[in-house]
Amino acid sequence: MARKLWAKRGLAALATGTMAVSLAACGGGGAGAGGGGGGAGDGEEGGLVGVAMPTQTYERWIADGDAVKTGLEEAGYDVDLQFAGDDIPTQQQQIDAMINKGAEALIIASIDGTALGSQLDAAAAADIPVISYDRLIRDSENVDFYVTFDNYEVGVQQGTSLLTGLGILDENGEEAADAPEGPFNVELFAGSPDDNNAGFFFEGAMSVLQPYLDDKTLVVPSEQTDFGTVAIQRWEQEGAQERMENLLTSTYTKGDQTIDGVLAPADVLSRGIITALKNSGYGKGDQDMPIITGQDAEAASAKLIVDGDQYSTIFKDTRLLAEQAVVAATSFLEGETPEANDTETYDNGELVVPSYLLPTVIVTEDNLEAELVESGYLTEEEVASGQVDE
Ligand code: GAL
Repeated sequence: MARKLWAKRGLAALATGTMAVSLAACGGGGAGAGGGGGGAGDGEEGGLVGVAMPTQTYERWIADGDAVKTGLEEAGYDVDLQFAGDDIPTQQQQIDAMINKGAEALIIASIDGTALGSQLDAAAAADIPVISYDRLIRDSENVDFYVTFDNYEVGVQQGTSLLTGLGILDENGEEAADAPEGPFNVELFAGSPDDNNAGFFFEGAMSVLQPYLDDKTLVVPSEQTDFGTVAIQRWEQEGAQERMENLLTSTYTKGDQTIDGVLAPADVLSRGIITALKNSGYGKGDQDMPIITGQDAEAASAKLIVDGDQYSTIFKDTRLLAEQAVVAATSFLEGETPEANDTETYDNGELVVPSYLLPTVIVTEDNLEAELVESGYLTEEEVASGQVDE
């Protein structure tokens, strides 16, 4: 499978205005070859696809890895799926090994989006298409496609749900008629600075929150509001717990000042924040838990939402993301160009990477059953136990 071949064919398809791969053609259980072939390479043996995931510490990446692997295997490919334990050199070595083993396409969810330049150079030299999965790989011209969610909108939804939880907005996201005056004490958290998504989430959230900070409906008592200060390296739960503990000690021991809301960008961080708050007496007696946001609809956090400890999460259906990754890989391997629905947003420093963005949904206790359980994303038991069944 020569890269030049697919590149040329892709250009030809674009030049004649034809859509290289139609999602409809790949829909249903397909997630496989476009053009009705049904299997890899129109009946030929499928090759090897390397799938590099960041870590098995968080539920979502395990689900992503499993779903991509299954989809590729159903489409007739062999899969080398690796998790890197959130260690950058490990991920680099895993990708090097995939290239050496003859992978014909790579699907990569990076740890540090700027650390894979030499791996991507090697992939390009071997004519291997690279699909950036969920997180954009930066500073390399050798990223061929990006499958992700609308990351800015995720942030908007997080900010909106914080305001809804506080009663400032109603369930439709409009100013609530009976909105309490405030001011509300909130603290802000952001994700890992080396993850391109983290900035999008934070900017999206701040676009919603800033007017309320400006008019003092919201107050950040710690005064820590810039991305660099509130970011949690490597999305570590312990890092979020520690920062929350420090905030509680530095800012919330005086008088009766309590915390009303926390902008948390992912469930894993929300859990660290919740631990710190509970350890200091929140959620007991008349000290209510603050409104806390999240992201990823992980089972452990779905349980916290049902238990009333976390207010919201953002549901990113990783089944659909995996399907898009499979569609994109299959498309490249068949000499075509995957269909992008965004060709403007994701500039990785070298090029604007053609992207396929999926929508996301705010989930609170009110729609958790409908969105997560009825859609088959989590089972009733997983939500009740907070653990994913093997
Ligand atoms: C982000 C991802 C989020 C969350 C976070 C921590 O890149 O988009 O969904 O999983 O990493 O793993």
